[in-house]
Order: sequence, then structure tokens, then C-alpha cells
Amino acid sequence: MKSNVTPLRAQPSFRGPDLAEFVALRVDQYYRERVQNTWAGGHIMRGRIPATGDLQLCSNDYLAVARHPRILDAMADSIRRDGNGLLMSGIFVHGACPHTDFEQHLADFMQAEAGVLCQSGYAANTGLIQIIAGEGVPVYADMMAHMSLWEGIKCAGAKPVTVFHNEVEHLERQILRHGPGVVVVDSIYSTTGSIAPLREIVEVCEATGCVLVADESHSLGTHGPNGEGLVVELGLAERVHFRTASLAKAFAGRAGFVTCSRRFVDYFKSESNPAIFSSTLLPHDIHGLAATLGVIRQEGWRRERLRANAAFLRQELDALGYNLNGSECQIVSLESGTEQNTIVLRDALESRGIFGSIFCAPATPKSRALMRFSVHAGLDRGELERLVGVCRDIRDEVGLASWASTRRKQRGRQVPAVKLHPDIAAA
Ligand SMILES: Cc1ncc(COP(=O)(O)O)c(C=O)c1O
Repeated sequence: MKSNVTPLRAQPSFRGPDLAEFVALRVDQYYRERVQNTWAGGHIMRGRIPATGDLQLCSNDYLAVARHPRILDAMADSIRRDGNGLLMSGIFVHGACPHTDFEQHLADFMQAEAGVLCQSGYAANTGLIQIIAGEGVPVYADMMAHMSLWEGIKCAGAKPVTVFHNEVEHLERQILRHGPGVVVVDSIYSTTGSIAPLREIVEVCEATGCVLVADESHSLGTHGPNGEGLVVELGLAERVHFRTASLAKAFAGRAGFVTCSRRFVDYFKSESNPAIFSSTLLPHDIHGLAATLGVIRQEGWRRERLRANAAFLRQELDALGYNLNGSECQIVSLESGTEQNTIVLRDALESRGIFGSIFCAPATPKSRALMRFSVHAGLDRGELERLVGVCRDIRDEVGLASWASTRRKQRGRQVPAVKLHPDIAAA
């Protein structure tokens, strides 16, 4: 029988209207300056496609639970039972249901009074800052704080005040100058794995009457006695006003979370833009996350293995001469510097079957591009040794000795010498 469906290849190609010049110029600039002049016609993020047996260190599934049978079963059962549930904004969710039950379970786990689930860590940060920092309120943000926190400041119309990375004295000076406001930090910074001096920051906030927001995206699940996060590990749960987190890291799902008081929950759901103007999670997201919480609580060996793997890798790469910029956790980055150097590093690693994540502008300053390895609990010693072996072999090929970060390490400077600008904060 003759088909009356036009084969896809034979479809005419559609063309929309021409872009106005002010947009077209921006697009042209991207292709000219980045693609042609910097990446020689390629794309810094698009190297080889990983093959079977290659080592992939680009996932933030730190505890290696993304294929955990208990979590997959919970999600599959929910899809069959609940379908896609009710498609609506978070503002409409109330009463006892899996969504609100999980909010309370996760809040209890994190030793918080209550909490709000969001569609992502990005939505959690923008939504929270939007509703706590009013117009003109100073928001003291670490220069390496996540872009979503800076976006929240813009949404709020608040006054951004930049703080040098992890410099508590600078934070104090800025607060004395601009007055009490909101302090925003990441517990663990996503580009280099540096850790915020949370105890000192809490003290400054208490002494100056500031509200503290700590983004626990890279410490929830991995830090704390049972994965409750760095704030709990340090005994600060009652002294940090709000903790936010992406549940797309150790929780291996797609969601975000904000800890807060019970009274604040309804305020968040009724006033923050992402809760009002964007649809909420699907039932299988919630059931998957609830199962993941159980796994994170019960399978402490994953955290131990992660810690041991990360410590081994840091120690070996440091001994090979790489400057790890003071990483103290599972995020381990090689700072190759220029984007051209980073493409050489990417190709050297990928041709030997090692895949990490490239971070470059706008996630880092232009001259501070890097290759990030996200260590996970599923790696065995043989795989880690393979990674270290490759990093040993490529040192001359990638010009390690000439990298600015290597020279800094030789001068004994682990801490970034250049301060990041807010517009190039870490992703
Ligand atoms: C520190 C930090 N906060 C927030 C986010 C955003 O999280 P999500 O990917 O869930 O939107 C990320 C992820 O890139 C992150 O690293």
C-alpha cells in the first residue's frame, strides 16, 4: 500500500523571519569571537563521544545511585500508578500528599523545621533570593557563588555586593560599609571544590544581623554523618537561616530544595515566581527522590568510598604537579587557563578515554578555564589509577609546566590570585 506520509528527509526546510540587527549582531559575535577565533571552528565542550569502557567523570551523581534498583523501581511504580499526576504550579499543592510528605521528610533529615521542593536548584535559589531580598537590600555574595544566586539578586532588584572568595574579613568590611542584608555562599564551590568557612561566616552574620543562605548542592548527600550536608556536619543547622540545594547531584534527580521555617513555606509557595509561574514536579520525581533519601541514609559505605576515592585522586594529582586550587572534596579540577590550553587538555584526555567537564567563561574568568572531574563512589582503584596514569603521561603534551596555575602552585599560592567577577560566577 502506498504511504501518504511525506518522509522526513523530503520535508521542505522551514525558515523564520530574519532577526533584527541587535540580535543578529550578538549571534554573529558568538560565532566570530568564540567559535572561529577561540575554538578554531570547533566547540570547546564538544570533543569526542565517549565509547564503551571510557571513564566518564562528568556526572554529579557522586554516590553512584542513578541506576539504583530501589530508586528505579519506585519511579517505575509511580509512573504506572500515577501517570504524570496533576500538571500544575507548586502554589496549588497543599494538604497531605507525597509532595508535602517528602518536603517534611527531607527537612527532618536536614535537621530543619520545614522545607519547600522546587523544580531545580536554580529555581530554589532564584525563588528564595527574590522573596527575601527586597529592592535595594544589600546581598553579599561570594565571587564564586553559583549563577542562580546572582540571578536571584537581579530578580529581587536587590543591591549586589561582591565578596572576595572565602575571605571572611572582606565580608565583614563590606557589611560594615553597606549595612545588614543577606549573605549568600555555596558550602562547596562547584568549579574548584573549595569549601566555605561556614563557622566564621555564621559568626559574622550573627554579629551583624545578616540573613545567611548556604547553597548545599555539592554537600547534601555527601557530607554530614548520614549525608545531611556540611551545615549539619559542622553543627550549624540552627544558625543558618536558609539552606538551598540542587537534588540533581548526590540525589541524582531533577529538583531543588529550600530549608526554612514552617511559617515561611506558604510565603515561599505564594510569593516566589518559580512556585507560581512554573509547573511543579511530577509524581515519579517525588517517589524517586523519597527512595533516594532512604538509600542515602542507609548506604553510608557510598560516602566512605567517595571520600576515599576523592582523597586518593587529589593526592596523586597534586603529586604530579597539578594545582587543584585547594579542593577538599569530590570536585577535582585541572586549571588549564586559556580556552586553547583547555582544548588541548580535553583532546589529550579524551583520546585516552577520559572524559570530564569543561568549565570556561561565563562559568570561570576567560583565562581560568578548567577541566573538572566529578569523582564518584562507583569508581574502583583500577579506574582511578588509570586516570592518574593518563594525567601523568600527558603532562608535557598539555604543557602543564607553562600553565599559570602551575606557576602559582610553585610559588606556594593555592588560592586563586584573580578575583572572579559576579558575571562570571561558577556554574
Ligand atoms: C552550587 C549550585 N547551585 C545550584 C545549581 C543549580 O542546580 P540545578 O541543576 O538543579 O538547577 C547548581 C548546578 O549547576 C550548583 O552547582
